[in-house]
Amino acid sequence: MKNEQTLLSQYDMKDLTLENRVVMAPMTRSRADNPGSIATDLMAEYYAQRASAGLVISEGSQISKRAVGYINTPGIYSDEQVEGWKKVTAAVHAKGGKIFLQLWHVGRMSHPDFHNGELPLSASALNPNDQSYTPQGFKDTVAPKEMTIEEIKETIADYGRAAKNAMAADFDGVEIHSSNGYLLHQFFSRTSNIRTDEYGGAIEKRAKILFEVIGEVKKYIPENRIGVRLNPSLHGIFGMTLDEETIPTFDYIVNRLNDYELAYLHLSEPFTDVTDVPGAEPHIAKHYRPIYRGTLMINTAFDREKGNQVLNDKLADLVAYGKPFISNPDLVERFAAVAETAEWDESTFYTTGAKGYTDYPTLKS
Ligand SMILES: Cc1cc2nc3c(=O)[nH]c(=O)nc-3n(C[C@H](O)[C@H](O)[C@H](O)COP(=O)(O)O)c2cc1C
Repeated sequence: MKNEQTLLSQYDMKDLTLENRVVMAPMTRSRADNPGSIATDLMAEYYAQRASAGLVISEGSQISKRAVGYINTPGIYSDEQVEGWKKVTAAVHAKGGKIFLQLWHVGRMSHPDFHNGELPLSASALNPNDQSYTPQGFKDTVAPKEMTIEEIKETIADYGRAAKNAMAADFDGVEIHSSNGYLLHQFFSRTSNIRTDEYGGAIEKRAKILFEVIGEVKKYIPENRIGVRLNPSLHGIFGMTLDEETIPTFDYIVNRLNDYELAYLHLSEPFTDVTDVPGAEPHIAKHYRPIYRGTLMINTAFDREKGNQVLNDKLADLVAYGKPFISNPDLVERFAAVAETAEWDESTFYTTGAKGYTDYPTLKS
């Protein structure tokens, strides 16, 4: 059975051979519950449990103090954080796994409580009208501060430092989080970016920051160890609203990504039903497979059968699984055995401690 499943076949992602095509999607789990936002031993155990994935992508890791928007998320800007992550990468590598770090800046999806009362930063001063999970519980978001050109340049430099740190922490590569309504996505979208300078207006200007970030990250990491994540049809959540320029903007971005020899492009199918939303693209893999020439990773609501199907249909090269990996540390082994998968418990997604984190059993345990 094993060899009949494309999901379980090896994949050469440029110079990195993945043992299978089952990727663990990046997932914030809020277990870095210490003042320095440092990855912990428990996190090392959690990732090691899931190391049989062809590739593990870490939870979003904030590139600077200003980049944070949720409690207990790990950073990648201090030396102590590098030391913390080293334990994670060593544990995953000891099990023969591969792991990329997700570089994260939440932009306006934050709250002044995280920034000594100062406003979060974004492309424009437009409130996402969402909620931020602060140390005092959920609070309404506010209108952020429109970034100055200097702040944009500093932020791009922060991505570079974070990439350098990721290498120092022995990650196999990084994924640039440019999806799900966070900072880079806020620049892409006309509804969150009304700037009139070189970073706003025309599609190319709204997309500019991503290519500058890639350029900075490339100073420290070869292109073939850099992934980019996009969620083109995100609508109605995380402060994002689709309009008729959204898909043309992503088409432009994906076309330009062809100019790089990236590790992969990671795309999400729509998180919500967008069939009746004007301008939305309900079939992301089908739409982007003909456009993108490199390795395409697809995500959202896949199970074993759908994962094999999308690969067999040649619509993607890799499939990223999120929630199934939370509750099935041995997801790959379960797929190989065509075994049942366990349901996840949402109530422990963002809590502290081992419960709902490292205590999900494997088939063998
Ligand atoms: C608990 C949780 C945390 C998440 N955190 C992140 C994150 O840090 N970065 C990111 O890009 N996506 C994040 N996501 C989105 C997942 O990577 C994935 O896109 C989503 O769960 C859909 O895939 P699935 O249907 O296989 O779960 C998160 C999802 C969940 C459930």
